[in-house]
Amino acid sequence: MLKTVKKLNKGLKGEIIIPSDKSISHRAVMFSSIAKGECIVRNFSSGADCHSTLNLFKQLGVDISFIDDKTLKIRSTGNLIPSNNNNNIYPCGNSGTTMRLVSGILAGQNFDSTLTGDKSLSRRPMKRVIEPLTLMGADITSVDGHAPLTIRGRKLHGIDYNSKLASAQVKSCILLAGLNAEGKTIFTEPYISRDHTERLFNYLEADIKTEGTKVTITPSQMVAKDIDVVGDISSAAFFIVAGLIVEGSDFVIKNVGINPTRSGILDVVKRMGGGIEILNERIVSGEPCADIRVQYNDSLKGCVIEGEDIPRLIDELPVIAVLASQAEGNTVVRNAEDLRNKESDRIKCLVEELTKIGVNIEETRDGFIIRGETELSGGAELESYHDHRLAMSFYIAGLVCKNEIAINGFEWTKISFPEFETLINHLG
Ligand code: S3P
Repeated sequence: MLKTVKKLNKGLKGEIIIPSDKSISHRAVMFSSIAKGECIVRNFSSGADCHSTLNLFKQLGVDISFIDDKTLKIRSTGNLIPSNNNNNIYPCGNSGTTMRLVSGILAGQNFDSTLTGDKSLSRRPMKRVIEPLTLMGADITSVDGHAPLTIRGRKLHGIDYNSKLASAQVKSCILLAGLNAEGKTIFTEPYISRDHTERLFNYLEADIKTEGTKVTITPSQMVAKDIDVVGDISSAAFFIVAGLIVEGSDFVIKNVGINPTRSGILDVVKRMGGGIEILNERIVSGEPCADIRVQYNDSLKGCVIEGEDIPRLIDELPVIAVLASQAEGNTVVRNAEDLRNKESDRIKCLVEELTKIGVNIEETRDGFIIRGETELSGGAELESYHDHRLAMSFYIAGLVCKNEIAINGFEWTKISFPEFETLINHLG
């Protein structure tokens, strides 16, 4: 679907409630499916990725029903049942989180299974989970490190693993495998990646301990409890950037998860001199949450984004590039080579497409450099490469382009944020 976007000639105003966090929604369904008992999950994501997880656990015999379009009732015995009527093939769609985390659950079951993905997911690297799982005794066959993954379930044993990558998907996969293994599992990463798994494990009474970048899981049975999912800061990021760059904007984004392992974008905005205010801070089901007021700012400054910043804002880097194009001076992003392994090669594709509308952006091996304060010309058709976050980042850029732009594949926003355009129109 080709979507055209025109320059906004007035500021965004009002108030929106940001929809459910994708990472936490996935985990709410997965963990409630292997916990014992019955619970309610409120504010579940309407994105296609989280529905891939939901359908997969239904296939594995978990009793999941909708009370309304955002509220789930989940009842589980704590045991999964292989679904023989589909040859134990479980589709994960476009969702890396589903495939990587579920492989940690299925590797330790007493049945075999195969995880499949769409074209994009089948190109994404899976060795990062296959290798540590194999060290735990797992038996997984892949196509040269890619999906489909054939998993022959067996009893696993704990490991002490030092990951080269700061990845919440790898960490969560190993913690899930460790939950049902023999002996303790220790996982250490170079920088802290998002810690939703650790927080939710804690809340559901798993035996988990965190010391800096080291997490230890001792095999235990989780207990089902009601979960309220906070709003997604990665979705809010598009609005934060829009508010900062569209002249005259001043609005409030309500119910945003501000977990410090996810809120790198807030630090970057402050570093750039952007006007945001954090209001009504509170804790919801173990996750920090707040309302955010965003105001237009015409004196943003470029900055350096690197090292431990990266896992705290990895998904926001495409829209941060749009923000940097409107800031004075250079913005340099380093140590973000894993961006090439997302739903698209987000370094190459971002640079190619933003260049078409006049952004001064240079590709580097592990990031990009933007020379800012350019008036964006627009007047081009941008390819989303079936990548939801690129499609929405380009839309935000379109709001400040002199000439109309068109985005090909805009329908991919359904992966994480089907409400995106409705909410923009609400503020516009
Ligand atoms: C996610 C972790 C991140 C992120 C992805 C969701 C998660 O991936 O990019 O969108 O829910 O754990 P990596 O762990 O591969 O960095």
